[in-house]
Amino acid sequence: MCGIIGYVGNNAAIPILIGGLESLEYRGYDSAGVCVLNKSELQVVKNKGKVIEIKNDKRINLIEGVCGIAHTRWATHGEPNEINAHPHTNSSNSIAVVHNGIIENYHSLKRLLEKEGYIFRSETDSEVLVHLVEKFYRNCSLGSAVLEALRLVEGTFGLAVVHKNKNEIIAARRGSPLVIGLGDNEAFLASDATALVKYTKRVIYLKDNEIAIINNKEIHIKNFDGENVSLNVENLKLEVEQIEKGSYKHFMLKEIFEQPDSVKRTLTGRLKNSRIKLSLNLQDIRSIQRLILVGCGTSWHSALIGKYLIENMAKIPVEVDYASEFRYRRPLVVRNDLVVGISQSGETADTLAAVREAKLLGANTIGLVNVVGSSIARECDSGIYLHAGPEIGVASTKAFTSQVTALLLLALYLAEIRGEKIEENLFRELENLPKQVKEVLSEADNVRKVAEKYYKSSNFIFLGRGINYPVALEGALKLKEISYIHAEGYPAAEMKHGPIALVDENMPTVFICTKDSTYDKIISNMQEIKARKGKIIALVNEIDPRLSVLADDVIFSQKTDEFLSPIVNSIPLQLFAYFIADLKGLDIDKPRNLAKSVTIE
Ligand code: AGP
Ligand code: GLU
Repeated sequence: MCGIIGYVGNNAAIPILIGGLESLEYRGYDSAGVCVLNKSELQVVKNKGKVIEIKNDKRINLIEGVCGIAHTRWATHGEPNEINAHPHTNSSNSIAVVHNGIIENYHSLKRLLEKEGYIFRSETDSEVLVHLVEKFYRNCSLGSAVLEALRLVEGTFGLAVVHKNKNEIIAARRGSPLVIGLGDNEAFLASDATALVKYTKRVIYLKDNEIAIINNKEIHIKNFDGENVSLNVENLKLEVEQIEKGSYKHFMLKEIFEQPDSVKRTLTGRLKNSRIKLSLNLQDIRSIQRLILVGCGTSWHSALIGKYLIENMAKIPVEVDYASEFRYRRPLVVRNDLVVGISQSGETADTLAAVREAKLLGANTIGLVNVVGSSIARECDSGIYLHAGPEIGVASTKAFTSQVTALLLLALYLAEIRGEKIEENLFRELENLPKQVKEVLSEADNVRKVAEKYYKSSNFIFLGRGINYPVALEGALKLKEISYIHAEGYPAAEMKHGPIALVDENMPTVFICTKDSTYDKIISNMQEIKARKGKIIALVNEIDPRLSVLADDVIFSQKTDEFLSPIVNSIPLQLFAYFIADLKGLDIDKPRNLAKSVTIE
């Protein structure tokens, strides 16, 4: 979590740092700070709250200098306030550090440093770093001091360090992403390449256990053993427009409306004449006995749909696990297992650790990842990029539909290898999918009207069955995340085993009841809710006279193959959550307590 930005060059650092913080704000937004060095002095301004607080702070206008670092925080240790905000400086204000991650042994390091006379100002774990660097900065370079300091540190970090007398930034990573941007006589550092695209397309992704010494002329990278590492400069395939809101009120709305294109991009080049083309570099794909799909949050919901797709089409058993559970439950993984890590960001700490664990246990790994060059994408044996484009809204929307699309492709690919027969019609529907996604978006006005009726409710239930049960979970998660309304998703048939006790005239239930193999069953489940005076919002794709009696409100989805239905059905639910949050006047792209990318455990 958190966004780091750094600049060293010949231009004023402040506009670049503030602009960078704005692009990275989705990663954390409870406090922010900048540090710029000017005439052998470190000028630091920090503030509680969002980046706008720092941008509007008058002190910022007084800062000059061409080298600096900045941070937008998602607190782990110590409440979000000005003192705990990064950058942290040492007592003599000669060194400043910004940090993303958690220093797990900070307690013992802090005790040790306090005994040696170092004075701590904040409650953060990160502050130990600046004092450690000061401790080791004796007759050596700043880079060597940082390296010495990091030898004592347990935990995860992406960090940047500056010294008042050095026109350079030292960056190091273990577990938290950092990317270096190369300009003409200038260089940039950021947690995420989206913050760099305005300035340069030439980037170097720092790897775990690497340290970079960056100045306006050159960049040196070493591993933590002090050995030089050759520079691998890559070309960013990202355009500025992709990371701007355009005429949309929120990134989330823009990303919802981008789905006809994002789904299309996931399919592009991979589907031809009813055959699937994926370049999976797997040892022996025919001998795979089982798949294990791992992910967190929305990505875990895609995994649940993936299980349904792969088991039904390829007839290979699939397990789904929360990445955070998988990594610690000593999973029984064997050589012929294929572990699929699903992640929009490719940086989620738990998913990355799960993939690493699977590799250690000898499994093949695939990453279904959106962010190109991210850690999960790099570490998996093979991968399927989603190509959904940058997703900036904290609530995942287009990445989810692209994940499900990619899982569909994987299911079809495995089915083909296994000689399992797939109905020709499915391929036709798949080709038609971006069009269906576009059609379903035309329901937005009606969804808004339904949202207007219900946005004051305090609780919601979302119900679906079969392949649409995870869509119910996802619908509930979207609503919780951005509208702060309590919502539960269940398989519709589970209601009678307990949750139905919650139903009364104040409890709206959203039913996903598009025509599929369990349609009649779900109509019966609706009866059960109606009999208890519950309000019903039905997501349908066909007019059914029974529904006009049962449903208080109806939202229309599109007709498509059942296997594709989660993609079109999830979109009206994204819109429903969006409109409710908008009617409540909430900060949709930056919901409270959340951050886009969870790079801590
Ligand atoms: C989605 O709306 C959430 N913000 C969250 O659950 C997210 O899906 C989860 O943190 C996993 O992120 P990832 O896909 O980047 O790994
Ligand atoms: N653990 C550090 C803190 O709480 C860094 C958090 C972050 O990554 O934003 O300040």
